[in-house]
Order: sequence, then C-alpha cells, then structure tokens
Amino acid sequence: MTEENKLAATLGWLTGEQHLAALQAEQTQEGGRFCGKTVLVTGAGSGIGFAICEALAREGAQIIANDLPTQNKLAVLKSTIEARGGTCTLKLGDVSDPQTAAKIFADIETLDVLVNNAGYLAEVPLSEMTDAQWDQMIKVHLYGSFYFARGAVGLMRRQGFGRIINIASDLGQIGCQNLAHYSAAKGGIIALTKSLARELGGQGILVNAVAPGGILTPLVGRLGDEYIENEAKLYPLNRLGLPSEIAAVVLFLASNAATFMTGQVVGVNGGGVMNG
Ligand code: NAI
Repeated sequence: MTEENKLAATLGWLTGEQHLAALQAEQTQEGGRFCGKTVLVTGAGSGIGFAICEALAREGAQIIANDLPTQNKLAVLKSTIEARGGTCTLKLGDVSDPQTAAKIFADIETLDVLVNNAGYLAEVPLSEMTDAQWDQMIKVHLYGSFYFARGAVGLMRRQGFGRIINIASDLGQIGCQNLAHYSAAKGGIIALTKSLARELGGQGILVNAVAPGGILTPLVGRLGDEYIENEAKLYPLNRLGLPSEIAAVVLFLASNAATFMTGQVVGVNGGGVMNG
C-alpha cells in the first residue's frame, strides 16, 4: 500500500485499492455494470430519456420509467427492454405535479440512481411570454427536478449511496433568445445541482448535471431540417449529438468511474460551449 493510501485508510477515506476493486467488481459484474441497481428516469418515453433507459437496461439496471400519460412511446420502451430480458416499470404522471413524485416514491423501496430528464422546448419572445408559459416551463424543469430529488434523497440516505443526474442544457449556461424561461429553468437546475451536491456529499449521494448541446431528438426535430443544419455549423464537430452520446455520459456519472465527481456540469455539446 502506498503512503498516500495508508493515510487515506487511516482517515477512513476511500483508498486506491478499494476504488480499483469497486471498479473491477462493476466491470465484471455478471449481467452488466448496473446489475442489481434501480434507476428512475423521468421523461423516459422519447429522445434522451429513452436512450438513457435503454443503455442502463442493457447493462443490467432495473428501470423505473416516468413520462406523461400521453407519451405512447413509453410502452415501446418497456417492450424493448423486456424483449432483451430486462425489467421496466412504468410510472405515468406529470413531473410538475408534486403528487406524481409523492406517489412514485411511496411505491419504491430502493433507488440507486435518479435521472431528472423530463422537459420540453417552446420558443416565445419575452414580450409575448405569458405568465402561464413562464410558470409551466419552470414547473416542469425546475420544480420537477426538485420534487424528484426530494423524494429520492429519503431512499438514498438510508442506503448511504445515491446518484442524482440532472439533465440541464448548454442554454442554462449561455442563455438563448426567445427561450428566457427555458434557459432560466436550466440555469436553476445547474444551481440546484451544485447546492444538492454540497448538501448531500457527506451522505454518499453524488449530484451532477449533464448539459447537452443540440441533440437529435423529437424536441429539436420539430424545429425543422434547415434549423438543424444551421445549428450544426455552430459546433466545432459540425453536427448535432445523439441521445446515446448523452446516455454514455450519464452511465459514466452513475458508475464507479465517477466516485470523486459531484456538483459538476458536464458539457456534452460537440464543443459548442467550452468551460474552464
Ligand atoms: P423529447 O421531447 O424527445 O423527450 C422529452 C420527454 O419528456 C418526452 O417523452 C415528454 O413526454 C416528457 N415530458 C415532457 N414534459 C413532461 C412532464 N411534465 N412530465 C413528465 N414527462 C414529461 O426531448 P429530449 O430532447 O429527449 O429532451 C430530454 C431533456 O434533455 C429535456 O430536459 C431537454 O430540455 C434536455 N435537453 C435537450 C436537448 C436537445 O437538443 N434535444 C439539448 C439540451 C437539453
């Protein structure tokens, strides 16, 4: 054991040996890296949420998938996962309604990973933005993430382990015209992430955000091909991203590879925004 690891052991911290053993145990886990883990993903019926659920299920996680009752692709997610031998429980409900999280958490006994992903986009110039449009945007993104994080923390605290991953946006970092409500909500999610990371770190709960740039999902698809082609030119990589490219980073944050990461905003944006 190195001197540094001896010191870590004396202080009761994670040692290099323990970390490598945990990583190896995860990598060689029969049935996949996340076998035995329960994961709740909001907005799971489409785009990024769908890809996150599929990727986690492929690696053995038991999926609890939330979306609006009107999202009929949620049934497709369930059958896709179950056809591969996985587990997917559906929990319908609007994340902006506090009762949705309350009901879901009343039914769950254990939760290892929460992914706050549900969201939508609606462009409106500030002068035309109604109170209702502003409220709805903040409620779905920011209140929704708060309700679900609050519900998850009770369970995670009990087991001394948890990962909360909030899907923010590069627009929460740089802002965007005609999307003041969306950008403000995503900026709020970033501040929520950092605050929860500080509050929960001592209890074994790591909280991080992923800030995607433009990703090819129905959310941007409805903006049209011309918009998408022009948007791609803003990125050094000259293209938009894929839902699976966000899922890969979410899985990294949920894994033992990320045991010393909390309160971070991980930009997955083709270089469109560079922090540092
Ligand atoms: P999407 O439209 O493909 O999927 C969003 C899902 O959230 C849908 O299934 C929808 O029904 C669900 N949803 C919406 N409101 C809900 C509510 N109140 N309660 C429960 N579920 C609800 O969109 P996409 O692109 O997959 O977006 C996922 C997340 O990623 C959102 O938070 C979005 O803001 C964020 N994001 C997306 C980017 C993109 O370019 N696609 C870029 C940056 C962030």
